[in-house]
Amino acid sequence: MRFSSYVEKMGGGDTAAVHDAWSVHGKARQRQRAGEDIILLSIGDHDFATDPRIVAAAKTALDGGRHHYTPNLGEPATRQAAVDFHQRAIGEAITPDHVAIVPGAQAGAFTAAMAVLDAGDEVICFDPMYVTYAGVIMAPGAVMRFVPLRPENGFQPDPAEVRRAVGPRTRAIMLNSPHNPTGAVIPRAVLAALGDIAVAHDLWLISDEVYCTMTFERPHVSPRLIDGLRERTLSIYSLSKAFAMTGWRMGWVVAEPAVVDRLDFVLGSMLFGTPPFSQDALVAAIATAFDETSRIRDLYRRRRDVICDALAALPALKFSRPEAGMFLMIDVRGTGMGSLDFAESLLAERNVAVLPGEGFGASQAGFVRLSYGTDEATLAEAARRIAAHVSALTGAGQRATVG
Ligand SMILES: Cc1ncc(COP(=O)(O)O)c(C=O)c1O
Repeated sequence: MRFSSYVEKMGGGDTAAVHDAWSVHGKARQRQRAGEDIILLSIGDHDFATDPRIVAAAKTALDGGRHHYTPNLGEPATRQAAVDFHQRAIGEAITPDHVAIVPGAQAGAFTAAMAVLDAGDEVICFDPMYVTYAGVIMAPGAVMRFVPLRPENGFQPDPAEVRRAVGPRTRAIMLNSPHNPTGAVIPRAVLAALGDIAVAHDLWLISDEVYCTMTFERPHVSPRLIDGLRERTLSIYSLSKAFAMTGWRMGWVVAEPAVVDRLDFVLGSMLFGTPPFSQDALVAAIATAFDETSRIRDLYRRRRDVICDALAALPALKFSRPEAGMFLMIDVRGTGMGSLDFAESLLAERNVAVLPGEGFGASQAGFVRLSYGTDEATLAEAARRIAAHVSALTGAGQRATVG
């Protein structure tokens, strides 16, 4: 039997480095499940439960018989809740016909790609990037054209490099700010410069803004706020990070109504409406538990500081302090090791799991991604173990400053 070239490509040679990188996480999970004391800093999930106010709304919905199909684009109250989120978090007034409810940002990206890309189209992507965009962009048969994000440039996109990468087949730019894995936030001026390129070449902007509420230094700016970009932007949001609801699979795409009409076709084919009880949870999150977004942001700012302050004492590790989100990219080349060897040895010898940078793009060889989605005491302990490891590798006798 023959499989589609889509699934074959995703399991194939091009993605071997990504699979190798993620195998570190797989091994760590296996050892943790077997009862070992593993500190898992390899994935982007919260270590605490969803707020009880939100859980109660879902229970009430289930007890009240909310068990049936819903409209493709979401129920009116759910779309209105997304409108309210957009006003509060993004600062733009929109109407419910700008919203398509989707089961998480991942599905939002997939839906957007299926609606605006054709086979052979090129999409400008940044390296490093959130790795699942590859499968999203390849689904309609489009191809990725990578532009590097350079650490010396604060992992910011360079509009001049983007302009050079645009060719006759370019159809879209895949944006992600705040960024996974680097924690960089694209400033308005850079966004505007990228927007100028999009306008000049009539490109879509697929804008993953899933970390929009988790900025520590300066507020997130959506491309929708920049003049002339609204009609070409599909902005993607979800409850996963903002409200600690990764397992609920609820998110939405904001776009102009004519675009949302097209998303409706895709959603009717792949989904046929999100669960009504999850939609009630979304409404409750935004209407009654919005304070969770600032609580979570402040918690992560402290976590970022704990891990960054501790690791700053290790000259063999280089990083810039993330401005947002839950991840830190660390250049480990000063230890004399590459990223895969560093991550594997850190797990084998110190029971700490981080992800080799190759999991996010070829440019990240020599980096590891550390998720600070765990409590401060565990992060401090992780920092001690990392310090011991680095010290053994470099023979420098360095010590983390925490605890
Ligand atoms: C940049 C980015 N986009 C999308 C997602 C997926 O989010 P969701 O749970 O809403 O599908 C993640 C999850 O880690 C992410 O980091």
